[in-house]
Amino acid sequence: MKRKEHWDAVYRTQNGAEIGWFESEPATSLRFIEAAALGPAARILDVGAGTSMLVDSLLERGCRNVGVLDVSPAALELSRIRLGDRAPEVEWFVGDVTEFRSPHTWDLWHDRAMFHFLTEMSDRQAYRETLGHALAPGGQVVIATYGPEGPTRCSGLDVRRYDSASLQGWLGDEFQLVQDELVDHTTPGGVVQQYLFTRFRRS
Ligand SMILES: C[S@@+](CC[C@H](N)C(=O)[O-])C[C@H]1O[C@@H](n2cnc3c(N)ncnc32)[C@H](O)[C@@H]1O
Repeated sequence: MKRKEHWDAVYRTQNGAEIGWFESEPATSLRFIEAAALGPAARILDVGAGTSMLVDSLLERGCRNVGVLDVSPAALELSRIRLGDRAPEVEWFVGDVTEFRSPHTWDLWHDRAMFHFLTEMSDRQAYRETLGHALAPGGQVVIATYGPEGPTRCSGLDVRRYDSASLQGWLGDEFQLVQDELVDHTTPGGVVQQYLFTRFRRS
């Protein structure tokens, strides 16, 4: 099944609050984004945003230039409905990160639980290329993947697990690691999963 069809089926058939990666408050993402110390006009893109409430939290905190990208139109439609009157304040992009070309650059790129689904080297290279085009010089990247003790599958798909060194190796010398943390996430079903949160700065 193609990516779009897979993820659309997930979001059409599963209740948002029951999906394994659901967070009522994206606390660690917000902590990492706050540590990036950006002003309210900074451009922040949530990649593989799904139905995450990060966008709501960023708007509530006064961020004025927030964008979301996801391969699943169904997911973004649910987020649009949830945001209601605030939806037009967000830049919405339906597309695959491996092919995405942003119309402008971003100061912060956030990805929680998307990159680790890219099990093919060519897809990881394509993601890195998209990131290279989309991120402004001096921009920052917050990437959260499953950590070394995290699950090996999610949503019926294989995933890759990472430590900070392997993410650094993939991003290359152009990026410096400035923050990392292993965080346990408890799924709505009560299963504890290890995530690795990282923040890198582009030179
Ligand atoms: C596990 S969910 C995480 C959603 C959200 N980041 C969160 O933390 O709640 C992974 C998301 O990545 C999206 N996705 C998967 N592969 C993608 C790709 N190649 N390009 C863009 N989005 C993708 C899926 O549609 C899904 O919404």
